Amino acid sequence: MSSQENSEENLPAEQGTAHDAAHGGTAVAQRDENPFADPGLPAHKPRVQDIDERAAKRSERTVAFLFTLSMLATVGFIASFVIFDVKKIVYIWPLGHISALNFALGVTLGLALFCIGAGAVHWARTLMSDVEVADDRHAIEAAPEVKAKVLSDFADGARESAIGRRGLIRTTMFGALAMVPLSGVVLLRELGPLPEDKLRHTLWARGKTLINMNTNEPLRPEDVAVGSLTFAMPEGLEESDHEFNTEIAKAALMLVRIQPEDIKDRRELEWSHEGIVAYSKICTHVGCPVSLYEQQTHHVLCPCHQSTFDLSDGARVIFGPAGHPLPQLRIGVNAQGELEALGDFEEPVGPAFWERG
Ligand code: FES
Repeated sequence: MSSQENSEENLPAEQGTAHDAAHGGTAVAQRDENPFADPGLPAHKPRVQDIDERAAKRSERTVAFLFTLSMLATVGFIASFVIFDVKKIVYIWPLGHISALNFALGVTLGLALFCIGAGAVHWARTLMSDVEVADDRHAIEAAPEVKAKVLSDFADGARESAIGRRGLIRTTMFGALAMVPLSGVVLLRELGPLPEDKLRHTLWARGKTLINMNTNEPLRPEDVAVGSLTFAMPEGLEESDHEFNTEIAKAALMLVRIQPEDIKDRRELEWSHEGIVAYSKICTHVGCPVSLYEQQTHHVLCPCHQSTFDLSDGARVIFGPAGHPLPQLRIGVNAQGELEALGDFEEPVGPAFWERG
């Protein structure tokens, strides 16, 4: 039996169909005109949507419903940011205790993407042309007539997808695709408020005692040995504090003892106590903790990208990508003989500001 006979059996020639309309003629004529038609392929069997315009309309409404549902889910995603507090925990079986915001975001974003995919699949399976074609492999360089054929096939594909005629699908699909990226806009909220001048200040203030980070005891000048780094934090900061990590990331301090006559920078000498100098431990490149000290040269090295600072010369950068010296903290001794700060850093610590003035 020829393919034409098969097609005629499935699709009576006298019946005008949605499929015909999509192909600009009968399905049989389309198949016979197709230069890529392979006689070995089974004959095309029209779907119910090809022969019944009401069924095609039903499919169109289903696809539109899915795209509309996607839009609503995207609205729900955005609304979730407004409705749910990020700290609110709810119990959801079988997930257990989970952030209500994360759950709502996951469900709504998942639904929005799923509905776009499901709508596209349903559209392709029920309304786009399903005529099978065969094509031989060709040389990579396409002949001009093949390129022309590709362009014409592209135009045919656009026509067969009926995107021009199915205005409801087209509108809702573009709506769904346009709205999904809006989900990313609300994520900007998670960047948090601007830091304003918070990065300019640390917990150091005049009279705050230096606490040895190893022993948790107030530091005295005699505790700072020659040749080694001593790390300190401001009094009142406990490791159990909620804000400990945030605050120590700004206030971490390192001290070294240098012979006063070896200190080249005059301000550094004035801000030191008996040759003990205190510098921010936060590298001015991208914020790693500086930690390797070389006693002979008074150089301190950041292990991340090898920025090297000369602690005997105002922590000047002598090597590496850091753009600024480490900020120095002015220190003295209180009535109990403990090292204390004589103020906050006078410039921002770490890499957050590039123009320190
Ligand atoms: S963070 Fe210190 S050199 Fe890069």
